[in-house]
Amino acid sequence: MCGIVGYVGGEPAGPIVYSGLENLDYRGYDSAGIALVEQELTIAKRTGEVSELDVPDVPGATCGIGHTRWSTHGPPTDENAHPHTGQAGDVAVVHNGIVENYESIKAELADAGHEFSSDTDTEVIPHLLERELESGHDLLSGLERVVDAIEGSYAIAAVRAGSDRIVATRHESPLVVGHGDDASFLASDVTAFLDRTRDVTYLEDGDIASLEAGTVTVYRDGDVVDHDVETVEWDADAAEKGGYEHYMRKEIHEQPVALRQTLSGRIDIERGDADLDVSFPQGYLESLEEIQLVACGTSYYASLYAARLLEQFADVRTTVEIASEYTFDGGRDPWRTLVIAVTQSGETADTLGAIRRAGGAGARTLAVTNTLGSSVTRETEDSLFIRAGPEIGVAATKTFASQVTTLALLAVEIGRKRGTLAATDARAVLENLRELPGAVQQVLDEEARVLEGAERFVDADAFFFVGRQFGYPVALEGALKLKEIAYDHAEGFAAGELKHGPLALVTGETPVLSVLTEGARPGETLNNVTEAQTRAAPAIGVTDGTVETDSLDLALEVSEIGHMTPLVANIYFQLFAYHIADLQGRSIDKPRNLAKSVTVE
Ligand code: F6R
Repeated sequence: MCGIVGYVGGEPAGPIVYSGLENLDYRGYDSAGIALVEQELTIAKRTGEVSELDVPDVPGATCGIGHTRWSTHGPPTDENAHPHTGQAGDVAVVHNGIVENYESIKAELADAGHEFSSDTDTEVIPHLLERELESGHDLLSGLERVVDAIEGSYAIAAVRAGSDRIVATRHESPLVVGHGDDASFLASDVTAFLDRTRDVTYLEDGDIASLEAGTVTVYRDGDVVDHDVETVEWDADAAEKGGYEHYMRKEIHEQPVALRQTLSGRIDIERGDADLDVSFPQGYLESLEEIQLVACGTSYYASLYAARLLEQFADVRTTVEIASEYTFDGGRDPWRTLVIAVTQSGETADTLGAIRRAGGAGARTLAVTNTLGSSVTRETEDSLFIRAGPEIGVAATKTFASQVTTLALLAVEIGRKRGTLAATDARAVLENLRELPGAVQQVLDEEARVLEGAERFVDADAFFFVGRQFGYPVALEGALKLKEIAYDHAEGFAAGELKHGPLALVTGETPVLSVLTEGARPGETLNNVTEAQTRAAPAIGVTDGTVETDSLDLALEVSEIGHMTPLVANIYFQLFAYHIADLQGRSIDKPRNLAKSVTVE
């Protein structure tokens, strides 16, 4: 996730674009840049937060675009920061998203003599655009043709030297236009320009917008389209959170988009394979004897989920270790052991310590993280990015889903390379992954029912979460979310373990939340839930219809998508924790005693 800003009007553009970027820095903060338009373009860009960017003093430039970056392709460096320019340097482009086919485009352009100065996927866009301009197209029709050539998800804004005009388009990435008096604004999020106008038009996929001072025209397939102008009622604080009261709820709702980004360009249904761009030495995967996942907290639970996938698809023993407990014990051949650090921040001291111990013992190491350029990426031989976009709320939500999804893709890729997963079986898994964002959206659409459930049980003494198989890590994660943000006593159990002790805690004031779906042995789990109900516990279950759930106090439905169904069930648990905490007026985004990234051991 990155932030895009554009302005064209009667005032100097530099300070207005800069202020828009400051408002969007929550969308990404590893580098920033601005392009200002006069007869020539003036560009300033660098790594670091927006506050570190020096805005060029070009009072005559009344048109400009800007960008704040959260890296997905290419580490955060000055060269990789946006805006990017083409060969001649008279077009500048900012981009949010991923150009999936950039490698083939880049190769073709390089053959034609184009030289590139960054590692980004974005840079092909200005080069393509420049080529269209040279062949006689204007900025608008040129961008139309560029969009035909690229695949992926994107929001793009482009400017050209000598022209006070911004053109912009989107596909699966947000973009909103603001209408001012004699001025037009563009941004990934209305927060960018809310202090200047509240009259906005939300662009839709496939729209191409042309912005001039005070005039915005939107085209689709060559025809002008008339979108409503809406008035934003939120205050600036709410707007930064996209109208949500808390980042956590916003991030829960971002999951369909985050998951699409996680999956983007990584699924090859035809071949029945995943393509993650991780390189292992020749013959390494075939000779692998063990995979160890090391992680903490939510990332540890994501690893528990993923370990089952790795064992099933790749047929390799997979262990999960709490990072602070980890040692590379004897009896293992380091060359035949792959140690994967799973950490959204990439800065967790316990996980860094564990991966250092693994590397020190001679094991091959891989990072699975949300943060390009983070410490873990420097400690490991390879890195795999989950592409969830920045997560501000202390409680991890969208990164959990994106971690599991990235590791599921890795399990497919390793399984295919080792010959343990047939193409037809891989295809079925990949189809389920493709359906994941839609299945998550269905859960989000049911939020009102979760709120009703939360209102009913908010005064409970404690909450127990149970699940089997893939439902077990989801139960652990559901309980962690609730303790973290509501400060209520919550425990996750393997459903079968309830009767081996915890049942003694169960009363009429301890709701039991369960995963009753494919991949979580729903029939047996329901038996355990019934045992708790017999002791008067209220029962809430997430079901995909596999078992009869009439006896539950609250049944919440999910679509069945194979191994990934319990991951979808987890979204209900996130919403439940959120609403229980919200009803109690907790400090949801910054729970007491906790920090987003724990950099001490
Ligand atoms: C829980 C949570 C923490 C983190 C843990 C590891 O909501 O956020 O449990 O999962 O501190 O953090 P990372 O993934 O950054 O290593």
